Amino acid sequence: MNDTRETLMFAAERAIEFLEGLDRRPVGAIADGDELRARFEQRLPDAGAGARRAVERLVAAVDGGLLGMPSGRFFAWVIGGALPSALAADWLTSAWGQNAAMFASSPAASIAEDVAGAWLKELLLLPSTASFAFVTGCQMAHVTCLAAARNALLRARGWDVETRGLSGAPHVAIVSSDRRHASLEKAVRLLGFGTDSVHYVEPTEREVLAPEALDAALRGIDGPAIVALQAGDINTGAFDDFRTVVPIAKKYGAWVHVDGAFGLWAAASPRHRHLVDGIELADSWATDGHKYLSVPFDCGYAFVRDAAAHRAAMSVSAPYIAADASRRDEIDWNPEWSRRARGFATYAALVELGRAGVADLVVRTCRYANEIVTALGALPETEVLWQPILNQGLVRFVDDRRTEATIERVVASGEAFFAPTTWRGMRAMRVSVLNWRTTQADVRRAVAAVAAALEREAVEVRA
Ligand SMILES: Cc1ncc(COP(=O)(O)O)c(C=O)c1O
Repeated sequence: MNDTRETLMFAAERAIEFLEGLDRRPVGAIADGDELRARFEQRLPDAGAGARRAVERLVAAVDGGLLGMPSGRFFAWVIGGALPSALAADWLTSAWGQNAAMFASSPAASIAEDVAGAWLKELLLLPSTASFAFVTGCQMAHVTCLAAARNALLRARGWDVETRGLSGAPHVAIVSSDRRHASLEKAVRLLGFGTDSVHYVEPTEREVLAPEALDAALRGIDGPAIVALQAGDINTGAFDDFRTVVPIAKKYGAWVHVDGAFGLWAAASPRHRHLVDGIELADSWATDGHKYLSVPFDCGYAFVRDAAAHRAAMSVSAPYIAADASRRDEIDWNPEWSRRARGFATYAALVELGRAGVADLVVRTCRYANEIVTALGALPETEVLWQPILNQGLVRFVDDRRTEATIERVVASGEAFFAPTTWRGMRAMRVSVLNWRTTQADVRRAVAAVAAALEREAVEVRA
């Protein structure tokens, strides 16, 4: 049975319909979980249905159960939407079916990644000599960077962690603001440091690490340490003051890691570059491609100043891998073995946008985030908790219950999608704008949806 062409054409048509319908469909899911499960949960077929029928069935099963995440009115979590070039490159990546583990297994994939990695360092103002890895997301970028940190810090104390493991090794402490993203802790767990190794430091009113508190925490640590800083806090988008705090960490010989999942991209915008001033002094940086750069999911980047430590933490040798020192084998830098050729989509996105396009994307999303938060602040019973300094803001409606209820109403309206968070002990609505599709009209529609939800909420409260 060869229905490849027909199946792929069918899938392409459905994909295009989905994207072109984003403005007409509700942004949230409309099918309930039981209904979706009933559609999926059928008997495992004895006889295969064939390719086209299988895809038809999948498309029918998901109906109403997908969020409009690529919509310009999706403001929950930190979600971008794939650029046309990156989406197309991602389709081709699947069709080309390259195993991007080594140069030998796909020369084009290896070179695309090599060139895109160099471009990213240039765009994000990172040292040109830093090594890099294209991983699944910022989560695995943390793991990759901290594995390099573990290697370097312990090697400096005469301990080869790659051969001896962590049992009996000098204890590595981690210092972080207590606003860190939870993915940092997951990386700490996966690498065997354990979360008890993390020393949390209270942030200042500006939501950044206080230099004196960092100094005091490091003074109390006897042994190797990693300082985890933030370029873009998940709730507030706050940036640590790198120029001041990195030298403090260095005074104690600590490795400095930066979580810049979305905030690192401020470097690409001349208007926002001041936020990352001094970030190049750090030792490792983790960020995402599937956030600001707008490539499909499954794309993050790790950058490491000490390339030797990075390579030592990830490199492998096996009898069937023919290493060629003049080529870049991705397997030497990544946690995975067989892997997707992520460089193609990144390369395409960078070519589509260029420096100017990335800068414009950052500027536009930050402007819209500010406009939404300002307009919401003018509505009755709405308090602005955090005016965006980048693309993240926080608002609250009267109290925790009304905040939750208002968000639920907005989502139920299908007009826009926001999600709640807890910040300084209060429930709040996060406003996160990251999508290249968002327009001024989307901003107006989202604000109108919140205004309408507040009105209905007020009527109910009075009744
Ligand atoms: C600040 C921050 N760090 C890390 C992550 C984890 O990134 P990923 O989901 O791409 O692994 C996120 C995700 O939203 C984030 O916002």
